[in-house]
Amino acid sequence: MCGIFGIITNQKLSLGKVALEGIKRLEYRGYDSCGIVVHYNSQLLVKKDAGKIDEIHKKLKLDDFPIDAKLALAHTRWATHGPPTKLNAHPHLDCNKKIAVIHNGILENFLELKAELKMKGHIFTSDTDTEVISHLIEDYMSSQLDFKEAVAKAIKRCEGAYGIAICHADCPDYFIVVRKESPIVIGIEKGKTSYCASDIPAFLPYTRSCYIMDDDEIAILKAGDVEFYELDDLSKPKDKELQNIEWSIDAAEKGGYDHFMLKEIHEEPVALRRTLKIPDEKIAELARVIWGAKHIYITAAGTSFYASLAGKFIITKFLSKYIEAIECSEFQIQLGDSLQEDSVIIAVSQSGETVDLIEAIRWAKDKLQKKIKIVSITNVVGSSLTRYSDHVIVTQAGPEIGVAATKTYCTQVLTLSLIALKIAGFRKILSDEDLKKYYQALFSTPNIIEEFIGRNSDLIKNVVDNLEKSHNFFFLARGISIATAKEGGLKLKEVACRFIEGYSAAHAKHGPISLVREGFPIIFIAPPDETYQRLVGNVMEFKARGGKIISVVVDDDEVITNLSDATIRIPQPGNKYYSIFSPITFIPALQLLSYYAALKHNLDPDQPLNLAKTVTVH
Ligand code: AGP
Repeated sequence: MCGIFGIITNQKLSLGKVALEGIKRLEYRGYDSCGIVVHYNSQLLVKKDAGKIDEIHKKLKLDDFPIDAKLALAHTRWATHGPPTKLNAHPHLDCNKKIAVIHNGILENFLELKAELKMKGHIFTSDTDTEVISHLIEDYMSSQLDFKEAVAKAIKRCEGAYGIAICHADCPDYFIVVRKESPIVIGIEKGKTSYCASDIPAFLPYTRSCYIMDDDEIAILKAGDVEFYELDDLSKPKDKELQNIEWSIDAAEKGGYDHFMLKEIHEEPVALRRTLKIPDEKIAELARVIWGAKHIYITAAGTSFYASLAGKFIITKFLSKYIEAIECSEFQIQLGDSLQEDSVIIAVSQSGETVDLIEAIRWAKDKLQKKIKIVSITNVVGSSLTRYSDHVIVTQAGPEIGVAATKTYCTQVLTLSLIALKIAGFRKILSDEDLKKYYQALFSTPNIIEEFIGRNSDLIKNVVDNLEKSHNFFFLARGISIATAKEGGLKLKEVACRFIEGYSAAHAKHGPISLVREGFPIIFIAPPDETYQRLVGNVMEFKARGGKIISVVVDDDEVITNLSDATIRIPQPGNKYYSIFSPITFIPALQLLSYYAALKHNLDPDQPLNLAKTVTVH
């Protein structure tokens, strides 16, 4: 969950500046401390501290290193082992200060290795698992192995997940990168400069040519060149395919917006339009697999799980088959031996790197091998998830930097909806006219969001002003909108630090309603679908107990509007064709509400406390 950046060049570059900008672009992965090491004149120059990158830069001038330096590694941390302090910040050096290591992931057996190294006299200066690596390499080098061999030998002893970059003071012409279960990409400017990073946007301003590292691979990065080896076989380099990344750098910059979160909400119409262009054959391929399955599971974490809940509802409607939605962290424990042959698992993940999801999928694959199919929906080409999947759709949201997922949620629900309508077409359960109307509604989602965003910011700011003093909220809904309520609530929780309960409006009577007092805010998600009449009853129940009712409704809504203290109106027709896709069109209202609530409480919506965008630890 940390961000790694490395560069080696034969050009005249301000390496400190490039490295600093590199970790700034990865700051969404962790932001409690950072550090840079620059190789210069057979020495390793290190600057590191606890705090956010900008604060540390102010103090230490992170871009100020000798201008003719050619190699730098940089790291932004999300603390796992040891609190965020200067000593625990990466890079971590060996006893002789010749080897520097930056690491994303967790070494599960670090205590055992640390004890062994301490016995041999190694002196540790941090609480981290990472520091073990530099000492272990040092140890192997002291028994006559060269740097590359020592790295391979040391890494083979490390259990857990890692993306690691390592440099050596006596090796000015290369640095080494290894990967197991934590993402690492290598960017190449042929003949000039090579980069490694935890994510593509870090080097996107310089190159779009990149290699995606596989597990148990070791890469030797030289200026403008790279060689890959299997960790187990350093004798001959492997062939690997160079990929061309289509993302534009604008997508990874704030582009005039105050925050990535706001920018990414505004990008939703474009992200949806691009995702609607996913080739029809691709959608049909996945739809066919799901349609033909005996048992269907859908699994994910966080926002992707709520997108999955919405998708499950929409697919079930047109497939008439039960789909079991299970949070990925619970997947193995809940299913155990009951996981059935001829099943399909739909795995949904923005990053494609969420460790619990990868573990769930690997477990299922190990258990049932070819008798189970993995269908995945992710936003990142070549991510770990894609490697364990039989069928993949890559959503076209573009890079999402804000820690709170926004545009990727919309594109996930859209993709699942496209699959659902494709299944409806295969099954011929709708008249041509009906199917056409559903497609029309789905293809209108970008325009609805565009119109909504264009006209509603002030209204939402007003609602936020009125809720300023509230600390606890309910987000209530029925049917498909329970997914919207949960996701909207998660956003407010994440970025505005309010306590929320996203719940079924019907079920809330069985306990949660006892919390309601005069002025308790309740956000009702109320598209005019088959649940609307009953939801009206729920709104009245909560209003009768003094609840402050804020509703999200369609433009021509009257009944719930009249019961509400404030309404946010979504510009879409009030019919079933549109209502089923309301998880896409209603969510921007709740994302914007959360964004403005964060600003109201002086919180940075892009960097919520304690969170990292990609969760690569259990
Ligand atoms: C979203 O706002 C969250 N930060 C988080 O819940 C996220 O959705 C979750 O960690 C899953 O990530 P993934 O989609 O990359 O797998």
